[in-house]
Amino acid sequence: MTAEMTLASARRRTEVLRAEIGRHNDAYYQRDAPLISDTDYDALVAELRQLEAAFPRLAVDSPLARVSGRPDEGFARVQHPVPMLSLGNASTLDELRRFDQRVRDLTGRDDVRYHCEPKFDGLSVGLLYRKGTLVWGATRGDGVTGEKVTANLRAIGAPDRVTGLAPRDVYIRGEAVMYRSDFEELNRRRIEAGESPFRNPRNAGAGSIRQIDPAATAARPLHIFAYQASALESSTLPVRTHGELLAALPTWGFKTFPEHQSDLTIEQVMAFIETERERRHRWPFDTDGVVVKVDDLATEQGLGFVGKDPRGAIAFKFPAEERFTRLRSVRWQVGRTGSVTPVAELEPVFVGGVMVANATLHNPNEIRRKGLLVGDMVVVRRAGEVIPEVVAPIVEQRRGTETEVAIPERCPECGSELLQQPGEIVLRCSNEGGCSAQRLGRVIHFAGRGALDIEGLGDANVALLMAGANGAPPLIRDAGDLFALTISDLADLPGFGPVAATNLIAAIDRARHPDLARLLIGLGIRMIGGETATAISDHFGSLDALLAANEEEIRAVNGLGNVAATHLVAWLARDENRVLLDRLQRNGLRPRERARRSGVLQGKSFVITGTLTRPRPAIAESIVAAGGTVAGGVSKRVDYLVVGENPGSKVDQARKLGIAVIDEDGFAALMRG
Ligand code: IVH
Repeated sequence: MTAEMTLASARRRTEVLRAEIGRHNDAYYQRDAPLISDTDYDALVAELRQLEAAFPRLAVDSPLARVSGRPDEGFARVQHPVPMLSLGNASTLDELRRFDQRVRDLTGRDDVRYHCEPKFDGLSVGLLYRKGTLVWGATRGDGVTGEKVTANLRAIGAPDRVTGLAPRDVYIRGEAVMYRSDFEELNRRRIEAGESPFRNPRNAGAGSIRQIDPAATAARPLHIFAYQASALESSTLPVRTHGELLAALPTWGFKTFPEHQSDLTIEQVMAFIETERERRHRWPFDTDGVVVKVDDLATEQGLGFVGKDPRGAIAFKFPAEERFTRLRSVRWQVGRTGSVTPVAELEPVFVGGVMVANATLHNPNEIRRKGLLVGDMVVVRRAGEVIPEVVAPIVEQRRGTETEVAIPERCPECGSELLQQPGEIVLRCSNEGGCSAQRLGRVIHFAGRGALDIEGLGDANVALLMAGANGAPPLIRDAGDLFALTISDLADLPGFGPVAATNLIAAIDRARHPDLARLLIGLGIRMIGGETATAISDHFGSLDALLAANEEEIRAVNGLGNVAATHLVAWLARDENRVLLDRLQRNGLRPRERARRSGVLQGKSFVITGTLTRPRPAIAESIVAAGGTVAGGVSKRVDYLVVGENPGSKVDQARKLGIAVIDEDGFAALMRG
């Protein structure tokens, strides 16, 4: 902003900024697909704020005075009993000092103490309890009205009842976050299934909280960390400070994040921030700052608000970890499923504590959407702290020598045709059996951590075994040959002395009797991952039982989705896969037999609704103990709906689907067998 800016030009600029901010709010809050980085967004907001401060006439009806994000259309609306406001930001220690100074000035006290905890980069949620029971849970929405997503929040751990000394009527606020490891796994599965990946755990979390089917939310794990409580009506909070509140919340049934500190002077707050700046990379979820609150709840409240921001708390934000570098080229990497993924080869750059030289571009659509050219200067971010991401090209810095990214028509490894299945974005190599990159990827996966976990059999050694030494034929064609290897086979491999050879054979031997679930994961069947593999293994108990099962029996496995079942049936029907299993077994692979889980409710799935005489978690526990499973929502897969008082809409849904609806007596009768 220039000093001589006129009101007219300020008005024009204000309008442009408001339109831009509105567009980005919509992209961020409604579509979970931000168009620009947080830093760029914050810069727009800062510019608008500055203009409004310089020209107060323009501040009338400012979007900055409103909380951004409107409730979505798909869910019922609820009004938050206490508005869910947001926080002012500080990004320098100077701004933090000014915040502290204002608090001192307004309270007239010099001994103000603060509370600090990480600022979770997740989704704000509110949980309303009346008479100690969860009435509803909601997203933040526009701060006044939110989307009611009770079943989904329950599915990710919102307690049904408060415990301990919790006020009976209370509004609990917290943040739902997705762990980075779960986010990566989710994106891996989405890319595999031809869906576009989420940009970051926050967006993935938003998508998952807004699932219509609570079981789908439960399948995309989120964790709720509580950080605020407001006593409603005649209730009072039995705590006086944030420190006491965070100590009490777990006894009331809520999860909190343990890394918080209270009773801090402003100097100690700054020290906390400096420690957190480094330490936050170790947390399993993303954080983007530190929330600093006046520790004493009454003092904090008494400070009131400026616009939408409370004066008694502030968010210290860490700068986004973004750097510029050049996109040197794009390499196409062939995965074990034949997926051909573009990988950006970058001029190495230090971002968020690590050197980044490669970043996945996911698929050709992403390259087009971002408008990337080879040779571009690009913004690189370590999204989710661990996966480096190319955010966008810096178009202004083009020199005219940049070139289009060539999308391959043939597999870069084996030259076979690439296919794009209907509804899929990914390109796949059509040569499943012959493509060396796919074969290599499959063995690496088979021996990898999540599968048979064969120590010493990483990428390089698998490549050695599959290449063969000095012109000799390969030692293995696929995983089926692994268990036939001997120490003398390995002795000729470059870099393999007798000790390494003995160790590797010993490690292979130790893997001869894996859990059936791990073997299933290792086979790399599409859509069969940790949970589905466990469900299959629980159901059949042994590889032989699975191999003997027909399609109908496979589809009956509880916890195995339709699409996954189709992939499994198709995989088992293929000759080359049967040959592989046969060779594995002949060479001595024997998965451990698993006692089939037994109990009177074996294989039956339940949904519980309404108020029962026992708390729901207790009922759920007895179901699981008797071999059954508990689902979050009514679907075709559910066998029984157990209803208590005031059951709600689930009963109708269940009747429509022909699911047995039973009351507590009926349930007790079932349990007796
Ligand atoms: S306390 C008056 N504590 O950050 C609002 N908020 O920018 C008091 N957030 O809307 C909120 N971690 O969604 C609080 N430890 C934390 C938080 C936290 C993340 C979110 C919250 C809020 C936003 C403010």
